[in-house]
Amino acid sequence: MMNAPTSAAKAEPGIREAQDSSEFDRFGIAGVSKGLLKVLETTRKVSKSNSSVLITGESGTGKELIARAIHRNSSRCDGPMVVINCGAIPGELLESELFGHEKGAFTGAVRSRIGRFEIADRGTIFLDEIGDMSPDLQVKLLRAIQERRFERVGGTTTIEVDIRVISATNKDLQTAMIKGLFREDLYYRLNVIPIHILPLRERKEDIFSLVDHFQSILVQREPGYKVKIFSENARQTMLRYDWPGNIRELENLIERVSVLVEDDTIELHDLPDHIAETSSQSIPPSVAAVFNNEIGFNEAVDLYQRSLILYALNQTGWVKAKAAEILKINRTTLVEKIKKMNIEPENDNPIF
Ligand SMILES: Nc1ncnc2c1ncn2[C@@H]1O[C@H](COP(=O)(O)OP(=O)(O)OP(=O)(O)O)[C@@H](O)[C@H]1O
Ligand SMILES: [Mg+2]
Repeated sequence: MMNAPTSAAKAEPGIREAQDSSEFDRFGIAGVSKGLLKVLETTRKVSKSNSSVLITGESGTGKELIARAIHRNSSRCDGPMVVINCGAIPGELLESELFGHEKGAFTGAVRSRIGRFEIADRGTIFLDEIGDMSPDLQVKLLRAIQERRFERVGGTTTIEVDIRVISATNKDLQTAMIKGLFREDLYYRLNVIPIHILPLRERKEDIFSLVDHFQSILVQREPGYKVKIFSENARQTMLRYDWPGNIRELENLIERVSVLVEDDTIELHDLPDHIAETSSQSIPPSVAAVFNNEIGFNEAVDLYQRSLILYALNQTGWVKAKAAEILKINRTTLVEKIKKMNIEPENDNPIF
């Protein structure tokens, strides 16, 4: 009898490292989360079209990587993919960067120069950080995208190009539109197909696929690099951490520990302090102490009882009858425990 297809196979038709050119190639995009598979599925579909795509997501989530995958899986893959960071180039220069200029168009324009739109002919132009573009230039961009035609700065000849437009932003363009900073007509032109990439904290299932991926790159890049294992404690902490810098932060961490940790196993204390601290913030100290090999099970249970009692006593101003009521134990049992554990009022630092 034939096996029924697995749900994973159903969820990602054709999304794997490509065996032949007709299939969608992930080009090393790692991850297994539903959120990422949905992004890959849309990426696969849009690769076959020429529609404009707007990729949104926090910094470091992989927007450029997805843009490259669209280009490389498209029929334009033999053409250029031209990237322009609209946020990094001052407004006056950006127009000439995008559309080129003629000799003498402005002070310093000693010779004519072609712009990125022309370079991207028969390929893809990736307009990164589109949310930072000035409203003036947005008008010119809209026309160039709409008509696939433009003039160089200071020029009169109209140049026609065949390009696919992908743009990206980590800004909220809806809010920018309400504030009048981003043109609505341009937004709808760019956002024919929206792709939103979730932050890593909302797809933590991807963390260890990414770790494996970055380590496999190190294996290829650094001769003699031995793949490291993460201790259970380190793993739990990495799963608990929120990764504000997203995949880029994880990538940097893997590179850093690969250089600095010579052991085969990455322990909790090998992680940077701000990550390791997440461990003690959310694991109760009595539990953390066990995992840090400071105490054993019985001592941890004692520590927990002690914390509960101390907290109840402090809440009730040391009225033992009230504390016993909260804890749902007999007053005499409570008194015995206080005596046995030597709990005193000055120890008012509750730990759980
Ligand atoms: N799913 C993934 N698999 C493998 N590598 C990834 C993945 N997502 C992101 N990366 C890597 O993480 C880094 C950041 O990705 P990228 O530059 O595409 O992010 P971005 O969203 O464009 O960030 P920014 O907004 O800061 O420009 C890159 O080195 C990229 O290769
Ligand atoms: Mg980017």
